Amino acid sequence: MYRTHHCNELRKSDIGRTAMLAGWVHVRRDHGGVIFIDLRDREGLTQVVFRPEENADLATQAHHLRHEDVIEVEGKVSARVPGTENAKLPTGDIELVPNQLRILNRADVLPFPLDAEGTNEDLRLSYRYFDLRRPQMTRNLRLRHKVTKATRDFLDEKGFLEIETPILSKSTPEGARDFLVPSRLIKGKFYALPQAPQQYKQLLMVGGIEKYFQIAKCFRDEDLRADRQPEFTQIDIEASFVVPDDIFLLTEGLLAAVFRASRNVEIPTPFPRLTYAQAMDEFGSDKPDRRFGMHLTDLADTFRSSSFKMFRGALDAGGAVKAINAKNFASLTIGQSDELTAMAKQYGAKGLAFIKVESGEWKSPIVKFFSEAETEALRSKLHVEEGDLILFAADKWEVVCEVLGRIRCRIAEMQQLTVGSDQLDFLWVTDFPLMAFSAEENKWNAVHHPFTRPKDEDIAKLEAQEFREVRAQAYDVVLNGVELGGGSIRIHEPDLQAKIFAALGVSEEDQQAMFGHMLRAFRLGAPPHGGIALGLDRIVMLICGEESIREVMAFPKNNRGIDLMSHSPSDVDQRQLRDLGIKLTGEQPPSAN
Ligand code: AMO
Ligand code: AMP
Repeated sequence: MYRTHHCNELRKSDIGRTAMLAGWVHVRRDHGGVIFIDLRDREGLTQVVFRPEENADLATQAHHLRHEDVIEVEGKVSARVPGTENAKLPTGDIELVPNQLRILNRADVLPFPLDAEGTNEDLRLSYRYFDLRRPQMTRNLRLRHKVTKATRDFLDEKGFLEIETPILSKSTPEGARDFLVPSRLIKGKFYALPQAPQQYKQLLMVGGIEKYFQIAKCFRDEDLRADRQPEFTQIDIEASFVVPDDIFLLTEGLLAAVFRASRNVEIPTPFPRLTYAQAMDEFGSDKPDRRFGMHLTDLADTFRSSSFKMFRGALDAGGAVKAINAKNFASLTIGQSDELTAMAKQYGAKGLAFIKVESGEWKSPIVKFFSEAETEALRSKLHVEEGDLILFAADKWEVVCEVLGRIRCRIAEMQQLTVGSDQLDFLWVTDFPLMAFSAEENKWNAVHHPFTRPKDEDIAKLEAQEFREVRAQAYDVVLNGVELGGGSIRIHEPDLQAKIFAALGVSEEDQQAMFGHMLRAFRLGAPPHGGIALGLDRIVMLICGEESIREVMAFPKNNRGIDLMSHSPSDVDQRQLRDLGIKLTGEQPPSAN
């Protein structure tokens, strides 16, 4: 037996008892020969005191303990000397006075101090097993466990079956590159790691499962960001005989259960809904953060017959003129205004026009072009007041929305509008377009994935090849400007599915080769079905108040996709390659490590 209690357990009422504790030396202090150890285990801290006058031998041994040594102590629970209690610690009234000390293992020189803020992330990831000892990391993993447990409990209660689907599978397009796994038994062939269990969950519906879920690992070879990892986890859900409202109700119930279990908050349901068109028009984003204002204000009516060419020209060409009002931001620095202008250009605008309202004056090179009526219209539409900064974009509607949407969020960061806020702004974004044209590839692509069902009332437009006008029965759930999840009602008819593949430029031959099993399955009585997948890592990140999903994954890759701890990806044996029938061309750059 190593211990009778955890390090967060002993209280005043235990004074006089004998107890055994085991854990790590968190802190060691030497007060003139009296050695104080804060002993840490997963649950908390207990002060252990070695006094030379009580046990000189033990005190000498304790003197040689170092941070993160693993020890076991047995002794008497005692009251702390009056005045030295620690109200911040649940065990702060007592200390353990040992009569035995066993050193279970020694710790070498530490790679970094556990309590240091701002330790370099690559260093932390290189020693992740050590980094995980930080109470914050333990807390994050504990919250993650609560989220998955609440998910399983909730979905079980609703009659959903948790079913595993293959990892060695066939490519499912979700918009990213596949990770491939070469087959040894069938040389020259490859498995693809699933970007999502999308096809399998639909095939489970054909299999009559009706309600499926999975805490599913997904793999996507894409550019990494704070909220993107090559390997991540979805709460993946599919159900038969459902309409979007069924999925909305289920997801809202699930998220409410998850936030109740992990954060002890009641989130208001149902969530508000915005169509994609509304979200883009008002917020310039398909995942709007509505915790702050700065709505995109449409100025087409104001400038339709303006003599100001830049705005009038955009409108004449069928584009848009919009503006946002950043309250109290007229004082922005030159650096900030340069950054915003660069951002506007990055997202396709020719420029970004500003008006600063300072000392009762509208300061801008463009105000001289405005008529009095235009100025008045701006003042009332944008509620212009002293201290405001007005930013304009005039271009194609898509460009105007995207540019102002990005700038809106960047200004909110610059002004720290959401810092310290505990607001949870959930919403649904619905009615996404079904397809988007890629100028680069000169073809139409699925916005969600090719199994997404068009809105019934838009099917005629699909047949008329007015692809731009076709909306999908697809939806995203958004929290505080982060896309938590997305899903759709699916196509269950082989003919409609083939039509969509054709519209996406998938030849008949490729349809059979890539998706023949889906098309065949749909011919055997596929029920109407639909579902959603929620990004588990992102949900946990927001629950933990972290800025990156790496903080809520036990062993993440760094932002270049490298596992710095085990050094993967890594070289492989020539023999392994020979077994697989693979020859490296020697063209690849030297390994990124
Ligand atoms: P989608 O591709 O929108 O939908 O993914 C669903 C959710 O998964 C999360 N997510 C990620 N999280 C971390 N790292 C990544 N690289 C990453 N990519 C996606 C996001 C996202 O909202 N099969 C469909 C779902 C369906 O139609 O039912 C799908 O995968 O939170
Ligand atoms: P110019 O007349 O080109 O010097 O532009 C005057 C101001 O308008 C500058 O601040 C430009 O960055 C900005 N600007 C130029 N084109 C656009 C546009 N399409 N939409 C919004 N602002 C623009």
